[in-house]
Amino acid sequence: MEIHVPHVNSEENEDPGAAPYGNFINYYSFNPPENRLGLIPEALLENIGFGSERVLMLDVGCNSGDLSVALYKHLLQEKASGSDSPKRELHLLGFDLDQDLILRAQNSNPFPLNIQFIPLDITDDQESRTVLESYLGKFGCPRFHLCTCFAVTMWVHLNHGDAAFLSLLSRLASLCEYLLLEAQPWKCYRSAARRLRKLGRSDFEHFKDLEIRGDMAAHAREHLEKQCSMELVQSFGNTAWDRSLLLFRRR
Ligand SMILES: C[S@@+](CC[C@H](N)C(=O)[O-])C[C@H]1O[C@@H](n2cnc3c(N)ncnc32)[C@H](O)[C@@H]1O
Repeated sequence: MEIHVPHVNSEENEDPGAAPYGNFINYYSFNPPENRLGLIPEALLENIGFGSERVLMLDVGCNSGDLSVALYKHLLQEKASGSDSPKRELHLLGFDLDQDLILRAQNSNPFPLNIQFIPLDITDDQESRTVLESYLGKFGCPRFHLCTCFAVTMWVHLNHGDAAFLSLLSRLASLCEYLLLEAQPWKCYRSAARRLRKLGRSDFEHFKDLEIRGDMAAHAREHLEKQCSMELVQSFGNTAWDRSLLLFRRR
């Protein structure tokens, strides 16, 4: 059964009662992939040194897969137009905790040989470790070359608290060489909690107790740099929703 999600112009105004994990069913009708793609260079993989090899990408919290597929095409495009350079082999694994969204992603996947969508909860340490290691094992790779995590951190933080927010970042860092991160700013947290209260529902379990608050991108960066041996390489600027897209790499 589908839950009706109103058409609004920002996730921070969305109805968290209907989508307490940010699992909006029509997400891409109000935040189309182009909003993020416009900031990400087509030549990203070349720029970070993965020009001609087999590249493994992980998209965490992929929703119905629209952005994953669009990003896959976006990053291959450059290479496809260069005539004499070897064609890159790109494999993308997208996962989301919402099984219905994953079913949609699977049913509309235009590249099933190279893109896979699976249901998985990143906060389930053991299960996610097993599943992701097994995927990497098939390719004989210790890590993904690039991991993308767009607009997921707030939902993990609100639903599971400060420790889970930090361990999400640590998990992501341990999984990849490069991490492209879009963390929701604090104003989105307040709006999400306000919406929940307006619906007469109790607050997100951890909202009032969160000590990590304020500049969320700065908190994420601090943790990744100080605790996870990563460094910020580049900021691709801010999205239409005023969120920065930050690229980190393993030091
Ligand atoms: C706001 S949507 C963003 C979708 C997509 N990443 C994008 O930016 O276009 C957040 C997604 O994260 C997923 N999500 C939230 N918590 C998650 C978790 N613990 N593990 C996996 N996915 C999660 C939700 O189901 C939802 O589809």
